[in-house]
Amino acid sequence: MTAEHTPNQHMVLTTFMLPAGYHRDSWRRPDSRAEELGNLDFVSDLALMAEEAKLDAIFFGDIVHANNLFRGDIMMNGFYEPISVLSALAARTRNIGLIGTMSTSFSEPYNVARQFAGLDHMSGGRAGWNIVTSRDGFGNFGGGEAPDPALRYERAAEFVDITMRLWDSWSDAATRVDRESGVWVDPAGLKPLDFRGRFFTVQGPINMPRPPQGRPVLVQAGSSVPGMDLGSSVADVIYTAQPRKELAQDFYGKMRVMVESKGRPADSVKVLPGILPIIADTEREARDLADELASYLDLEAGRRQISGDLKIDIADIGFDERIPAERFSEDPDRGSRYHIFRRKSVDGGLTLRELIVDRARSTGHMWMAGTAGQVADAMVDWFTSGACDGFNLNSPYNPGGFEAICRKLVPELQDRGYFRTDYEGRTLRENLGLDRPTA
Ligand SMILES: Cc1cc2nc3c(=O)[nH]c(=O)nc-3n(C[C@H](O)[C@H](O)[C@H](O)COP(=O)(O)O)c2cc1C
Repeated sequence: MTAEHTPNQHMVLTTFMLPAGYHRDSWRRPDSRAEELGNLDFVSDLALMAEEAKLDAIFFGDIVHANNLFRGDIMMNGFYEPISVLSALAARTRNIGLIGTMSTSFSEPYNVARQFAGLDHMSGGRAGWNIVTSRDGFGNFGGGEAPDPALRYERAAEFVDITMRLWDSWSDAATRVDRESGVWVDPAGLKPLDFRGRFFTVQGPINMPRPPQGRPVLVQAGSSVPGMDLGSSVADVIYTAQPRKELAQDFYGKMRVMVESKGRPADSVKVLPGILPIIADTEREARDLADELASYLDLEAGRRQISGDLKIDIADIGFDERIPAERFSEDPDRGSRYHIFRRKSVDGGLTLRELIVDRARSTGHMWMAGTAGQVADAMVDWFTSGACDGFNLNSPYNPGGFEAICRKLVPELQDRGYFRTDYEGRTLRENLGLDRPTA
């Protein structure tokens, strides 16, 4: 089942904040501010630009290992641990949503419930949690191999269930602040969990009042079968990598059917594929800019990254050759992103060089080089033909590429009536048009 949008239902727009730039090695541009990675002022300038453009939220991803740095890939922002940076940005912004990744593979629900509830309180109801399961990083948490996807997602489902119960463990009326009687909190409004599951035992309740949004916004970003199962059960927002419109339409349709099969209205879940727009005043200049960004890539580092990401041996493959089809596995457990690159290589016929450039540009997301008007055309086309509810914007390089997104692309969408010109509400849930869950 698909839904076709009209302008009065404007897009949801968030942005994947990677201050080094989403396009690998774009930090090598002369005006990149790469010396300031990890500093608050730089990322704060980007966040304020996003807020001026009225984006729904900024999003910080996270991984908890340094493996990619050894392959010459600094794109994932371990420099910005999500809770720290989002807490700092809560103080510098007023309206924009603050979404961060926290893996269910390494933490405990009680910690995560407190961290996101705390961020929600400190930001006046703007927190969102991107729920992921991890494939790498187990060496930093006691060692061992990564569990298979089914087990990781089973743990994730129990983890999220407990986290929601903790957020709900204070009734909204529990906090009295009654000076006369001396009752600050009514203990009758606090509900223990006494949860005993397969992975966790949690007594509860949480030790702080219910978050302003009731529950911080739940985001999920896995497109495999167990990933979609979790997302359709609990998420308010789904992030996904979809390189082509037809694939996005297929994913969107399936996700809506799955959401309804869980007894939830299809419109209560916002599906946001990523897009990487390379924008210039003319199409020709945008193509030249894409070539310039590709020229910063180190191909040998790209080989190591593809080999590390896809876990395949390609040491003997020339840059102008294709990776032989038999090197790839068809096992769905390899994950959705693996199969995007398998298809690009095997069916799309990309050479290793082309594959390195393609992955460096967009990591499997849709990308395009053009004028702001051309990119807006493509986004409106996806939005009105049942492919998505909006987009997660990937800035190819910073700060210039993000400036083009916020100050050229967003106004195009606003002029056409496909994006807000001011925030509708105070909380992230209100701006997304989502109800506040009752406890
Ligand atoms: C926009 C987006 C953001 C993501 N952010 C993270 C992240 O911060 N940390 C992480 O470990 N995985 C992240 N992922 C990866 C997914 O959680 C998931 O591991 C990946 O999509 C493969 O799982 P799947 O096979 O279920 O799709 C992200 C994926 C997408 C599409």
